[in-house]
Amino acid sequence: MLSNILKRIVQNAMLSAAPDARQAEMNLAEAEDLDFTGLAPDGRRPEERAAAVLTDMTLEEKLIFVTGYKSLGIHPLPRHGLPSVWMTDATSGPRSYGATTAFPSAVAMAATWDPALVAEAADHIAESTRAKGASILLGPGVNIARIPTCGRNFEYMGEDPFLAGTLASAYVKACTERGVICTVKHMAANNSEYDRHKISSDLDERTLREIYLPAFEATVKTGKTPGLMSAYNPVNGVWASENRKLLTVILREEWEFDGIVVSDWDSLYSTSGPLKSGLDIEMPRARWLTPERVKAAFVTGDAREADLDRMAGNLLRTLFSAGVYDRPVKDPEAREFHPDHEAAALKAARAGIVLLKNENSALPLPRGPGITIAVCGPLAVDSAVLGGGSCHIARTTGTINLLEGLKKVAGSAAGSAEGTKIVHVSSGNLGRDSQTIEDADAVIITCGFNYMNESELYDRPWRLPRSQRKLIHRISRLNSRCIVTISAGGGVETESWVENVPALIHGMYLGQTVGTATAEILFGIVNPSGKLPFTMARKWNDIPAVRGYPRRYWTTSPGRIAAGQGNPRFRKVRHWRYSEGLMVGYRHFDTADIEPAFPFGHGLSYTSFFIENMQLSADTIGPEDSLDVTVRVKNTGKRFGSEVVQIYVADIESRLPRPVKELKGFTKLKLEPGESVEAVIHLDKRAFRYWDPGAGESGGSGGWTAEPGEFRILAGRGSRNIEAEAIVTLGSPESTSQPGA
Ligand code: BGC
Repeated sequence: MLSNILKRIVQNAMLSAAPDARQAEMNLAEAEDLDFTGLAPDGRRPEERAAAVLTDMTLEEKLIFVTGYKSLGIHPLPRHGLPSVWMTDATSGPRSYGATTAFPSAVAMAATWDPALVAEAADHIAESTRAKGASILLGPGVNIARIPTCGRNFEYMGEDPFLAGTLASAYVKACTERGVICTVKHMAANNSEYDRHKISSDLDERTLREIYLPAFEATVKTGKTPGLMSAYNPVNGVWASENRKLLTVILREEWEFDGIVVSDWDSLYSTSGPLKSGLDIEMPRARWLTPERVKAAFVTGDAREADLDRMAGNLLRTLFSAGVYDRPVKDPEAREFHPDHEAAALKAARAGIVLLKNENSALPLPRGPGITIAVCGPLAVDSAVLGGGSCHIARTTGTINLLEGLKKVAGSAAGSAEGTKIVHVSSGNLGRDSQTIEDADAVIITCGFNYMNESELYDRPWRLPRSQRKLIHRISRLNSRCIVTISAGGGVETESWVENVPALIHGMYLGQTVGTATAEILFGIVNPSGKLPFTMARKWNDIPAVRGYPRRYWTTSPGRIAAGQGNPRFRKVRHWRYSEGLMVGYRHFDTADIEPAFPFGHGLSYTSFFIENMQLSADTIGPEDSLDVTVRVKNTGKRFGSEVVQIYVADIESRLPRPVKELKGFTKLKLEPGESVEAVIHLDKRAFRYWDPGAGESGGSGGWTAEPGEFRILAGRGSRNIEAEAIVTLGSPESTSQPGA
């Protein structure tokens, strides 16, 4: 576990990496003081307006424009009447300008499996962003949870590219509608925080295309994101900030992205590389792109003025398109600190809680006169709102911890809960409280991590802290009705203690309503409906990606963290091979037939559901066709609930090896007891394809291949809980009907 000194150093490092909120507030005040009105809309298209400004800009203006302003801004262009533009972190709320409503972490949003709900949360976050005067939101993150311990998994949307891409697209669209530019991050293959500046993610083309890029691709093609952020790490030896293949060939030429690429903070390592490769702005300030350095590169011919024009042009066009220059810095109509924001945060938090285990009906908890619920563990009072780093929200508009949440919810239960006693038991004094624990009707043990030990900059342990594991063992000996709650951004080890407890919930990080949302699930006011967006392994060594990962990586020293962030001239880049290839998360566990502790897509409810009667829109489709899958879903239990229908596609035979099944569609349904509905899930042509490195013109550089043959279409309520299936044949182009493009 990290020592206190390390934590202090890390916090200081975070303060310099993540901009100071007070400084940022001063920046905004300054921007408001400037007498800019912006350009009034005049009927010209954004690209025309951008071109006109660009033509008029001096070299000096362009040089300054492509580097950050006061840590979180884009420079004003006074001669052109254009004000400074402000950015803010990030996905759970605009944290950079003082207090804000803390929404659930991105991974908890992913656990909702509900694009509409994610869009609703993003809409409120974007409104607060505009109320604060920022126009660029530095999120959401879609790096794949390759290993459970990555310190930033909580900022990302789980292990599956389709799930992450779908939900992040919903998020981005909602922000765009509010005039907020998202920068989807960190492109690409930024899957560990350990020595994040010094480790090259080395992976083959197929793995890159099928696992690590599709979520970015979806946010570009479906979400139409106006922005992206490059990563710290090199990819196959080339720094992400100057990776022409990623930032130009794939992003702009193949995916036709026409927005901006913002660098991650202090992630440039040369001058000419980023200039030539597709980056548009160096953040947070000019370091490698200083006017002197850039001009020197022009002189040596390492870069051209046209590169600078392209960068400035991309910035201007994107800002004009979003309307940034046609409105006041702060949107006077946008609401901030509004109860609606908190209500939306609570709604998302409820839906993101995953009930992993519930034996002997341990949950929901009983309520009523004479009932006593004990609560203990480190997170009962210091309930974790979010993980640490640039996504952490230190000043919320009011956090409800679990103890308060339990008291509030127990007391609010319309008469029936009257008399329910909530007792806080100090973890340090179990001896004194052992009788209380024994006598309690149930004991809640709050476990997991917080913003100190799960954060940007370093990875966290896989096992819960020893003190927490001991607590579970001791309390479960005193009372058999123990409920463990976990706060973490991904999987944790459960094998050594899970048999001792009848119920377990994973809350990820739930934002400021953590206490209320968790209490409502525990007492059954709300029926749980979250589904794991990652696999929880039984054994560490069952996860192939951890091979080659440093032993005792979590004991990383302050020196190593500093060096991992430090001067690039002293960095010796190490190469880590993603040797597991496509076999990430459930793709690996299901293909290798290894039983996980809790599978991807798993999540229990207080009611029961059943999926049956799958119908396909066609038995045979062509390579360019899509397919509609219809299933009947029934709530077979006694209470209202929501269920996620997950559609996996399994290629029965293929020339290149494929994972045994892959998620390609899902939908979340609300069902009254006894109700049954038909759900239709649309699979597009990509659902059947894989990346063939040998495809492309004259055996060229690869491409998406639709290989004729049979595919199993599987409908389940989890990756290991398949309840209906059918077979579709993918024919060659001539031999098929064309049911819908
Ligand atoms: C993070 C980014 C973040 C930026 C600004 C960096 O340390 O990697 O994700 O947006 O800081 O705070």
